[in-house]
Amino acid sequence: MSSSLKDKVVVITGGNSGIGYTTAATFLRKGAKVLITGRNPGAVQQAVYALGHPAEGFKADQAVPEDAKKLAEYVQRRYGKIDSLFINAGVAKLSPFGNVTPELYDELMNVNFKGAFFTIQRLLPLINDGGSITLLSALNAYSGTPNATVVSASKAALNSLGRTLSRELAPRKIRVNVVNPGVVVTPLLEKVGMPDVFRTHIGSITPLGRLGQPEDIANMVTFLASDEASFITGAEYNVDGGLMVHPLIGS
Ligand SMILES: NC(=O)c1ccc[n+]([C@@H]2O[C@H](COP(=O)([O-])OP(=O)(O)OC[C@H]3O[C@@H](n4cnc5c(N)ncnc54)[C@H](OP(=O)(O)O)[C@@H]3O)[C@@H](O)[C@H]2O)c1
Repeated sequence: MSSSLKDKVVVITGGNSGIGYTTAATFLRKGAKVLITGRNPGAVQQAVYALGHPAEGFKADQAVPEDAKKLAEYVQRRYGKIDSLFINAGVAKLSPFGNVTPELYDELMNVNFKGAFFTIQRLLPLINDGGSITLLSALNAYSGTPNATVVSASKAALNSLGRTLSRELAPRKIRVNVVNPGVVVTPLLEKVGMPDVFRTHIGSITPLGRLGQPEDIANMVTFLASDEASFITGAEYNVDGGLMVHPLIGS
């Protein structure tokens, strides 16, 4: 197989569902060795089984610093190094600004930003010079979506982190990039209670006329991890069918 990802060691947080799962499958097809994480051991095990060899799983909650430490120890023992880290795990909950509780704020920030931050910090010593880190943000880091104050801010913080880390890690030639999906059809849409009518509306106002599929994001993430992206760092990409191009201005 002629792929620059052949035999590369890839760690994906939150890989038992949706975008993380499909990205794991895409990396595997390109010859990489993939370790996925998740909070629910049964779900992780089931995903590893479905992905097939050489996928592996490790139970780790991105919000729990002790889990990041255990994950780093496991990766060190099992693989000795990481070529590409995909910070994908994330949660989304909507609430009008006035109803946001400190508990909801902490839950979203702890998984999406604080957990991402300290997971990277723990795994960084294992990332090869010349390796890569890709952070999964969201279009709502920019879109001003009502009722999404906390989740949007948690994602915007990742965009900032990506830019800073790209400069800080450049001496080691570690590339750091961020992907901003639009609305992608995954179990997350059920979890946030997005009504079908809203999905249809989003698809209709998207210039390319449809919602995103996990494969759309997986293709960008695997590209960013590959040698074909060897001059790309500190960048961010909207993968959204053009949704961020404002649909109301012009015709
Ligand atoms: N779908 C969209 O429209 C969309 C748009 C923009 C951005 N995104 C981002 O894409 C990422 C993946 O979401 P998805 O759409 O694929 O949703 P999903 O199907 O719900 O997948 C989320 C994955 O993250 C895992 N996860 C959640 N919290 C975790 C934690 N604390 N520690 C470890 N794993 C955790 C989940 O596993 P368990 O819950 O079993 O642990 C699951 O594997 C998220 O960061 C999300 O914000 C999605």
